Amino acid sequence: MVAALREGRSPDPQDGRRGKQRSVHNNYFTLPVVFTMFSHHYAATYMHPHGWAVLALIAGAGVAIRHFFNLRHKGVLAWQYPALGAALLGFVFWWTAPRIVPLPPVEGPVTFNRVRSIIGQRCVNCHAPAPTFPGLASAPGGVLLHEPGEIVRNAERSYVQVVVTRMMPLGNVTQITEEERAVLAAWIKAGAKIE
Ligand code: HEC
Repeated sequence: MVAALREGRSPDPQDGRRGKQRSVHNNYFTLPVVFTMFSHHYAATYMHPHGWAVLALIAGAGVAIRHFFNLRHKGVLAWQYPALGAALLGFVFWWTAPRIVPLPPVEGPVTFNRVRSIIGQRCVNCHAPAPTFPGLASAPGGVLLHEPGEIVRNAERSYVQVVVTRMMPLGNVTQITEEERAVLAAWIKAGAKIE
């Protein structure tokens, strides 16, 4: 448009309309973009079997809330929009809440050695001082699981991640089995002891 003006031509009005359209998109997608930027901390959203729908609902809530503010700047208070946003977020909250999946019975004694070998196989590539998992410079969340003391110290948090929310191992990239989850659960429930 600047070049057209410099050359004394009249700029293509289509470019102006496109600019306005992008500006409207940016305005409405402020909140969804902010959410998407920190969503990697919320595995419950992107690891949900219908993660795309979770994202769409959260984006819809963001758009509705933003619309309220746009109208408010014009002096209109339309509370139905934040109410819709809250309802959508409430639904997502319920839909992504952890539901404990029953684990198979454990065969054989639940020893610390067994636990240590499972963790060594399924967790330590990420949760070590120098992770071998590509792209990780340090142990994620500061959680170390490479030595007995650290395994015990992080037992309760690991229970939540492995048994309740099932967010770990992340994306189950290390392919932990249901039996192994059951062994970890039994060991932690029995007091997380190193014999
Ligand atoms: C592929 C890499 C990877 C693997 C494998 C992995 N984790 Fe994680 N873990 C992460 C990342 C990344 C985070 C940080 C998530 C965040 O930023 O919220 C994390 C966070 C955690 C946390 C802290 C969560 C909290 O906020 O309390 C615990 C506990 C944990 N992992 C346990 C485990 C256990 C136990 C295993 C093995 C069964 C495991 N992780 C396997 C990548 C991994």
